[in-house]
Formats: sequence, structure tokens, C-alpha cells
Amino acid sequence: MIEPTRRQTLGGLAALAALPASVRAAPPAPASLDTLARKGGRRFGSAIAWNPRNADSGSVQNRAYAALVQRECGLVVPENEMKWQWLRKSPDSFDFTAMDGIVGWAKASGLGVRGHTLLWHRPKWFPGWLNDYDFGANPAAEAERLLTTHIRTVTARYGGIINSWDVVNEAIDHDRNAPIETSLSRAMGSPEAVLDLAFHTARDAAPGAELVYNDYMSWEPAHAKHCADVLRLLEGFRKRGTPVDALGIQSHIEMFSLDPATGVGPYREREWRAFLDDVVGMGYRLLITEFDVKDKALPSDVAVRDAKVADYTRRYFDLMLDYEQLGDILAWGMVDKYSWLQGFAPRDDGREVRACPYDDAYQAKPMRAAIAASLGAAG
Ligand code: G3I
Repeated sequence: MIEPTRRQTLGGLAALAALPASVRAAPPAPASLDTLARKGGRRFGSAIAWNPRNADSGSVQNRAYAALVQRECGLVVPENEMKWQWLRKSPDSFDFTAMDGIVGWAKASGLGVRGHTLLWHRPKWFPGWLNDYDFGANPAAEAERLLTTHIRTVTARYGGIINSWDVVNEAIDHDRNAPIETSLSRAMGSPEAVLDLAFHTARDAAPGAELVYNDYMSWEPAHAKHCADVLRLLEGFRKRGTPVDALGIQSHIEMFSLDPATGVGPYREREWRAFLDDVVGMGYRLLITEFDVKDKALPSDVAVRDAKVADYTRRYFDLMLDYEQLGDILAWGMVDKYSWLQGFAPRDDGREVRACPYDDAYQAKPMRAAIAASLGAAG
């Protein structure tokens, strides 16, 4: 074949440009992940940050990232900006600057917003002052005041746009196999008292909203105990009449080893389905709230890795989409280089984790195609 010269190519482009717009229309853009999700009555979204000091981040300030989110998503969730460590620098103040920034941008972009999180019930993620707080002569009343004030203030501010809240995030202590103790639970007498108050307050303050317990139990063998603990917690909510509507399944799925039977990471399909069956059997709905993939066990080669990550993703989404109780689906970031995993769970070979649907050049990866295929098949 004779390659066209640059001049011939440019001439061809000029001729094309001379055609009427109706004739030279570009090929249709592929349906967005949100469009595909909506065919099944769901929305697709992503975490996003507010980072005025660094536009080279997965943030609103990064125009390329923001444009990608606007194109692919129907909703966003603040990666950090709604957590107590961001909002509550002191017991008496709220700093809504970053959160207001995300919400303002989302509204202007026609995107919904999820609330994450009203209470991350772990001392490590409390603001320092809350861990050391002097609850005074009537500790239970003071803890209740702090928690209910927080939930009422935040839900009131964003009630117009947020209709699904991670009311409580990650409340289980894996050493004790029981809900974790914090300064709040010690003041109120038990972790259950804190969690129940959080949900009752949220129901009262945001009556029409979906109230979610969010956690990272997952389908890999290492998570078996955590799944059992979460079931016990969810059963307790039902027995006590705690108003929890759904389980948020974070879905940071992981390949820390490879199963020769499949070539991807080991996962417990039968047990995971049994877990989901138990959850929906108690009347809970499901969400995928923080999807990404840890590729630690995969070789360095990018093409091999991307193919395996996509394969693992497809298996996961196909299973999850079997559940009509599954609602919104959110990725924990859209572009590899901005993923929390680069810092929190780096690869042994020092290469970037290929965790997200898009690469660092904003090109769709096989993972994106896998998600689209699963959504398309389910819708
Ligand atoms: O804001 C500072 C910045 O000023 C400083 O330059 C930088 C230096 O390290 O630190 C910045 O804060 C970090 C922040 O991420 C923003 O990058 C915090 O130290 C770091 O602790 C924080 O980590 C977040 C983590 O939650 C803890 O809040 C991750 O971004 C975020 O992805 C992660 O998200 C959690 C979900 O909320 C719950 N489920 C698990 C998920 C992953 O851990």
C-alpha cells in the first residue's frame, strides 16, 4: 500500500472540511458509563476532590479530569471533603469551603452528589480534638449533642442535592470482631448507641434520603470474617429498628495473588453470593460506592495487567449486576495517577497501580470497556 503524503492527507482533510456538516458528522461518541447504567435504573459516578492548591489531582480544579467526570458520570462523591477531619477543625466550627466548592461545581454541571460520610467511626479518621475530647460531667449527653449537631448541620446544608448518604463508614473492629470503640462510644456506653443515633438523626433530618452503612468487606477469601461481622451488624440494625436502607459495598477489589483456575485473583463467588443474598434478604439495598482494582499480583507489563484487571472487573460487575437491588455505582477515581492506591497500596515493582477506568493520558482502558459491557448486558 502506498502511504499518502502529508500534503495529500491535508488536501483530503480540506476537502472533508468543505463538505456540509450533515455529511461529515463525526462518528457517534460511545454511550457514557452513566447512560449505560441508567438503562438499568442506576447512576454511574466517581469520587472527586477539591484542590485549589494543586490542579494536578483528581479534582474539580483539573480541567481535563473535571471534563472526563462530566462526560462519563451522573453523580460524584467527595473523596475527602465531607469527612470530620476536613469539616470539623474544632468542636465549635464547620468549614464548608471545599465541600461547597464540589457541590457548586456539581450543580453547575448537572451532576448529583452522594454524601460520604457523616461518621467514619474510627479513631484514626476522627479529628484529633474528638479523640481527646473532654465530654464533661454528662458524657452521653455531650456526645449526643456533638454527633446530632454535626449530622443535622451537614444534611441541612446539602439536603437539596444529596439524596444518598454514607451515614456510617467502616465501624467494625477486626481484632474484636465487634463494632469499634471510639471516644463517642465510650461516652455513650456502646458503639451501637452511636451508630443507631447517627442513623436515627439522619432519618429525622433527611427523611426522603437513602441511608447507607458503607464498608470494605469484599469477595476475596481474606474478607470472609469481615463479611460475617457485617452481617451481624446489619442484623443488629434490623433487630433494633435502626433506619438503614442499604449496604454500601466499597468494592476496592484486589489481586494479591493469582488463582491458576482463572488467571485472576481468587474470589469466593458462591460465598459472596450467599453474603449478598443474606443482605438483600434482610431488606437492604446495595450500592457499589468506591470501585477500583488492586493489581499487586500482576506482572509489570501494562497490556497484560490491563487485560487481567478488565477480566476481574467484568467478573465482578456481572455478578453484582445480577442483583436488582443494586443501585448507584461509583468508581473511587477515574484516572490511575490520582488514585489513593498509588500512595496507600503501591506495587512492589514501583510502577503505577492500574486501578481506574482511564490511564494517565485520559485514554479509556480495557477496564472501562469491561464496565460498559457489563452495564450494557445488564441494562
Ligand atoms: O490534604 C493533605 C495535603 O495538604 C498534603 O499535601 C498531603 C500530603 O500527604 O496530605 C493531604 O491529605 C491526605 C488526603 O488523603 C488527600 O490526599 C491525607 O493525608 C490522607 O490521609 C487522605 O487519604 C484519604 C483516606 O480516605 C483517608 O481520609 C484518601 O485520599 C481517600 O481516598 C480515602 O478514601 C477512603 C474512603 O473515604 C473510605 N473507604 C476507603 C477509602 C480508601 O482508603
